[in-house]
Amino acid sequence: MGHLTMLPAWQTLRAHYDRIRNRHLRDLFAEDPGRAKRYTLEAAGLFLDYSKNRINDESLSGLLNLARERGVEAQRDAMLSGAHVNTSEDRPVLHTALRAPRNAIICANGHNVVPDVHEVLDHMSAFAQDIRSGTWRGFTGRPIRHIINIGIGGSFLGPQLVYEALKPFALAGLTCSFVANIDGAELANALQGKDPAETLFIIASKTFTTLETLTNARLAREWLIEGLGSQTAVARHCVAVSANVGAAVEFGIDAGNIFGFWDWVGGRYSVESAIGLAAMVAIGGDLFTQMLAGSRAMDEHFQGAPLDANMPVIMGLISLWYNNFFGAETLAILPYAHALARLPAYLQQLTMESNGKRVDAGGELVEVDTGPIVWGEPGVDGQHSFHQLLYQGTRLVPCDMIGFMEPLSRYHKSHDLLMASLFAQAEALAFGRTGEQLRALGVSPSRAKFEACEGNRPTNMLLGQRLDARTLGALIALYEHSVFVQGAIWGVDSFDQWGVELGKDMARQIIREMETGAVGAGHDPSTERLLARYMGARHAAQG
Ligand code: F6P
Repeated sequence: MGHLTMLPAWQTLRAHYDRIRNRHLRDLFAEDPGRAKRYTLEAAGLFLDYSKNRINDESLSGLLNLARERGVEAQRDAMLSGAHVNTSEDRPVLHTALRAPRNAIICANGHNVVPDVHEVLDHMSAFAQDIRSGTWRGFTGRPIRHIINIGIGGSFLGPQLVYEALKPFALAGLTCSFVANIDGAELANALQGKDPAETLFIIASKTFTTLETLTNARLAREWLIEGLGSQTAVARHCVAVSANVGAAVEFGIDAGNIFGFWDWVGGRYSVESAIGLAAMVAIGGDLFTQMLAGSRAMDEHFQGAPLDANMPVIMGLISLWYNNFFGAETLAILPYAHALARLPAYLQQLTMESNGKRVDAGGELVEVDTGPIVWGEPGVDGQHSFHQLLYQGTRLVPCDMIGFMEPLSRYHKSHDLLMASLFAQAEALAFGRTGEQLRALGVSPSRAKFEACEGNRPTNMLLGQRLDARTLGALIALYEHSVFVQGAIWGVDSFDQWGVELGKDMARQIIREMETGAVGAGHDPSTERLLARYMGARHAAQG
């Protein structure tokens, strides 16, 4: 793709950065109050105010030129049309097909995938309805009251996000829990107090080879057999979601209870495939369909809106601006909606597994920093903890703040307080309070030194009418495409994740050594000593 930093647009931005880097948001607003109106966008039910960013018209036109020079539009169109944009794995990337209408035609490797998508969606809906209505009975004839999703990474974070976000709409009396960690404590916790006769496991794994998931799935199967006294009970209490149907059948799941998906859906992009089954059972097929519609609306916006009015493009460019020019290493996600508590974790995988890359799609070292470190907590909670650093720390931490007009509870006054906090934080971060202002308020000069907040801390403000299925779908697609835009500019393959393989490989080796008792050989001295310490403690505990 050529050298990124040699591009005319990059060089122009570099020179512009030197001029704007020390400008304060106070000045940018004073000289151009109209930016408050101009730097806003609406798409798919979401409103974005990006005016409190350290940008002006020149920054925006430079960033948009960069997107053009890197061929972001052509790369987007290639992805949406089923080209093999996951180059290292030689695959199409078509999570957008998961929300395509029935009559759409989207081809992967010459085959229209839309009918397949809808066949699985129909299967999921029917299954969800059977569980919800009590038509599906467990081995002893009792209805299912507990769903336990066993899966990790994309096979966990997505369905958990949707379930938690839309819990106010979930069927009462049906619990839904998630077991991801191989730490048996998590499984034990999920099983506690559950009756196997009323519990259904969804084994969710794209590859059906993931150690954590298969280990937990085997333990769950043992728990079922022990509790229900029969091997044949398993079929009524275990279903699977996988792109590897053969492995799921081999595990013992009835072929009719396997919900498939395809290798053109990446794990972290799979929440709207059958991987979302647990959430669908909880919220019902209709709401799941509304979530798909919200994502589709954002897809259409991403595909059709000009770059300068394209929400995922603008958000991706702003994130890159701080990352590559201001040297900001992180991005804070601060949802002012408790139901989005898991959004930061979800976006960590989406962003960091996609763009945490040091070589480009051609295998050459990238010249600039790639994916930012994403973190965050629900808004207000963070105010009483890490916001101190946002205000007065030495680092620049851009924040995405997310809020909703309507509450999901009957506590309207609380919602006003929540939203007041949201707006106040963004205002205070941007404009701060100077020593001079403090002194005018009667604060002593010696005290003002400590109280002063310089401001100039940038935020994006995302607002929706209310946190419903459609809005959630739009939000998910917004971030998917924003991540895509950044990866397209860096020229990395945002859809592979080779880095995670090394740790898996080493864990397999250490497990083998533990099983054979031949621990220690061939490791570095630190790891050898740690393993010896663990094995010693284990033997001592076992007597
Ligand atoms: O190890 C990383 C990863 O491959 C993720 O990309 C994926 O979402 C997760 O593991 C789970 O994989 P699977 O769904 O195949 O069990």
